[in-house]
Amino acid sequence: MIRLKVYENGKSNVIETTTGDSLLTILRGSGYNIYAPCGGRGTCGKCLVNIKGNGFVQSCTFFPDKDIEIILPGQAEVIILTSQTDYLEDLPFDGGISLGMGTHSVGVAVDIGTTTVVMYFMDMITGETRKIASFLNPQHLYGADVITRIGYCQENVNGLKGLQEVIISAINKELENFVKESGFAADSIEKMVFVGNTTMLHILLGEDPVSIALAPFVPKFTSRQLRTGNETGFNINSGAIIETLPCISAYVGADIVAGVAALKNLHKNYIFLDIGTNGELALARGDKLFTCATAAGPAFEGANISCGMAAVTGAISAFNRQGKYQVIGNTAPEGICGSGIVDIVAYMLLEDIIDETGLLQEPFIIDGMKKLRVLQQDIREIQLAKSAIYSGIIILINHAGLSFNEIDALYLAGGFGNYLNISSAIQIGLLPSELKDRIYPVGNSAGIGSLQYLRSKKFGSKINKVIENSSYIELSDIDEFNMQFALNMNFLKNNYHGKDQTF
Ligand code: FES
Repeated sequence: MIRLKVYENGKSNVIETTTGDSLLTILRGSGYNIYAPCGGRGTCGKCLVNIKGNGFVQSCTFFPDKDIEIILPGQAEVIILTSQTDYLEDLPFDGGISLGMGTHSVGVAVDIGTTTVVMYFMDMITGETRKIASFLNPQHLYGADVITRIGYCQENVNGLKGLQEVIISAINKELENFVKESGFAADSIEKMVFVGNTTMLHILLGEDPVSIALAPFVPKFTSRQLRTGNETGFNINSGAIIETLPCISAYVGADIVAGVAALKNLHKNYIFLDIGTNGELALARGDKLFTCATAAGPAFEGANISCGMAAVTGAISAFNRQGKYQVIGNTAPEGICGSGIVDIVAYMLLEDIIDETGLLQEPFIIDGMKKLRVLQQDIREIQLAKSAIYSGIIILINHAGLSFNEIDALYLAGGFGNYLNISSAIQIGLLPSELKDRIYPVGNSAGIGSLQYLRSKKFGSKINKVIENSSYIELSDIDEFNMQFALNMNFLKNNYHGKDQTF
């Protein structure tokens, strides 16, 4: 038996354990949250903890064999996008999909992102949004992207159950908070609507997601799923209806369906792009909707970048030049999040610190802080990610028989799209310069879509229309995609670059 003394946020605790397990496994087993984007495979270098007298070690590859003292990093605050924008529907309340259980009735719309979760609580009698809650998806501790989480389900006997339990218990915590604060009884929660990518919805419902990661990528379901409060672990009315909105394919989920449906009818031909731990795309040509997903990986969530981190307190989120950058929470910088790394790579290109092939002669150190540096491998990760997304855009445009001139708008969904400096994104070749005046961040379209579904029967028809009119293009089946992907790996020096950002 060995004793591990754990310090976190000024408190300490002793764990007694036997040898044999990794420190990550031991800490998790004792209820500590350790960020492990690669799922404990020893490849991301992010699961660091400080061992007194030993320095920082990767907790997933460290196997304690004697008494030690461990200092855990503090928990960071996260900024999550929840609000409405001018591009998204705000339909009048028409009674929505109330089940008419009584005079006190609450509906909850939940957007389960791979990284963040947003919950909208709506009074189903008046249509008033009573509360918006948001939090980091606790599953992010088990892997940054869906593939790592599916791997976790595959490799651990109770992996799926474990991931399902952590998300249900996090949602239950917010349901309980709402009940305490609002005076509504838990029994008055009669409806919950969920959007999310196909993997998130599978895990939520306890359905095996493994086939999503294996060719030919056929998920257990894409259609709307219905359960009752009785069948789930949610602390709500036992007769409540739990509904997940429909998905299009293994990698184009209900978040994209709800997001596209949430767009106001402002344009005929448009591109909808959601860059998160993957890059999902939809292109509307009139009534038709062409969709695809690019294996962009989680670089834009900071996960595959050596000093990358999520968009939380301490992350450099914008960068103009040395000495002029912005840190979330205005604290000392600890790492770089997706929007920050896009700015930094754009700057490195402009200053000839990297060439068109992405070649970097020596690590680029930010503001003299040796721990904050961009390495050659980081540039390669960004090249892979930006090329995957840009090439996906080209394939969809070609597939729809359109040219850039005929695209009215490119809508950027989600948090990354909101904080991204568009001119930097164009500079590095992530977004097309041809559309530079027609790129609009639309906010959390998936979450707002789920809320609209609660508010208005009309929105249900919009969802159905998206499903009926959509077709899915599997990029790995298309030779032209591979060709485009190789072609677009390089940077273009003469790409558009706008003005400095103002902080
Ligand atoms: S290196 Fe330990 S979780 Fe990735």
